[in-house]
Amino acid sequence: MPIANGVAPCDFVIFGGTGDLAVRKLLPALYLRDRDGHLTADTRIIAVARAGLDEPGYRHKIQAELGRFVAAELLDGGTVDRFLARLRFVSIDLTEPSDYAAVTDVLAASEVDIRVFYLACSPALFGPICDALGRQGLVTASSRVVLEKPIGHDLASARAINDAVGAVFEEGQIFRIDHYLGKESVQNLLVTRFANTLLEPLWNSSWIDHVQITVAESLGVGTRGDYYDKSGALRDMLQNHLLQVLCLVAMEPPTYIDRETVRDEKLKVLQALKPLSAKDIKRDTVTGQYGPGLADGAVVGAYRQDAENPDSSTETFVAVKAEINNWRWAGVPFYLRTGKRMSRRYSEIVVQFKPVPLPMFPGSDGASEPNRLVISLQPDEEMRLELTAKEPGPGGIRMRPVSLALNYTQAFQRRSPDAYERLLMDVVRGDPTLFMRRDEVEAAWAWAEPILRQWQESGRQPRLYPAGTDGPVDASTLLERDGRRWHEEAS
Ligand code: BG6
Repeated sequence: MPIANGVAPCDFVIFGGTGDLAVRKLLPALYLRDRDGHLTADTRIIAVARAGLDEPGYRHKIQAELGRFVAAELLDGGTVDRFLARLRFVSIDLTEPSDYAAVTDVLAASEVDIRVFYLACSPALFGPICDALGRQGLVTASSRVVLEKPIGHDLASARAINDAVGAVFEEGQIFRIDHYLGKESVQNLLVTRFANTLLEPLWNSSWIDHVQITVAESLGVGTRGDYYDKSGALRDMLQNHLLQVLCLVAMEPPTYIDRETVRDEKLKVLQALKPLSAKDIKRDTVTGQYGPGLADGAVVGAYRQDAENPDSSTETFVAVKAEINNWRWAGVPFYLRTGKRMSRRYSEIVVQFKPVPLPMFPGSDGASEPNRLVISLQPDEEMRLELTAKEPGPGGIRMRPVSLALNYTQAFQRRSPDAYERLLMDVVRGDPTLFMRRDEVEAAWAWAEPILRQWQESGRQPRLYPAGTDGPVDASTLLERDGRRWHEEAS
């Protein structure tokens, strides 16, 4: 069968095909890949959900949703029609094994070899769905399954999910998605580090003072309060997205880049994370929960209102000081933080270098700031090297901070694809390099779980912070205690 831009024909089966993720991310991403000619004529998208819809009703719904979630200039009538014609809709109860015969019927209507089963639904259903697929004989050698995070809520539940999925699919067929790994700027981190010689000699504890990783969101929990209230910022963001980014910053260069070598090196970083004792957790972790405030120019309510739980003690903000016990990073703190309803939406990695060993311009006006490499993941994909320069002019030295900046959109003059566009095509191609392996997920839980346990045992309550701010003041104290500041507080 013909291959489109290296992507073979496939049946893309989305369990939870009417859910938020499918509608907001997966279908728009597949539409955009279709638009760029990456879906073959015989590729089908089969949505499976428990919704009282028929196929025309589903197509109609998705047509309207594409209008909401794809930029108007990227929507063209011909491609939309072609895309809608690929859609099939199967209405079943995902928990009812006998209903899966309907999925078998739809799959049997095509000769296509590759089946992608995308589980865009509650992790509690991962095991039962895989089991039903196995019993129906739907899992062929070229089938793959995609698991959305969260993979469990602790180490034991992650293992149970991995066991249940692993009873039906081989590890090589399991794609655990972390969409942060599909972001262009996150992938570029590997290229910046390993396709240039400039940084590598400095990329260690001799030259780097500390690293900050921030993922700040201005939105609240929206309609996801039910899920979020059982999860919280550590499970929802830090245990996966932030630790994966940390791995790419900290990993050793693999001998070559391939599906296992990159993941092997990331695993070593996770295994080298210094375990946090109860005392460390008390001192080096900060939790917060947003109260009412002003966000994105509007008055917004408290998290407890959004979650419809007036007594909730779920954290919507977390900051942690992590350390990596290996030769390259010993003694270099990695400050991680993420929160909802913060002052603005931005994600960045800040690598701060050590100060100059000796101030050379004692009589100068202005001080030399430490050099920083700032990698902005969103909203703009940008890299800035912050240096100190002499302000032009006679009469002495005036030192000022300046930036060497690289903005990807300007430099490459092209649309930066959404993370899901890249990752979904990697699944069809069978390339798991940018997906989490079982041992990585479990190593991340092994490090994060004691934090959750200590919070629970000590009855820790998150500090309230007003919506639209940068989280609780304790987050600033976490760095001040070490004589440091968060990047935006420093600049
Ligand atoms: C998801 C979390 O994994 O990532 C959400 O469940 C969060 O709570 C989202 O909002 C953030 O992703 P992005 O790409 O918008 O930074």
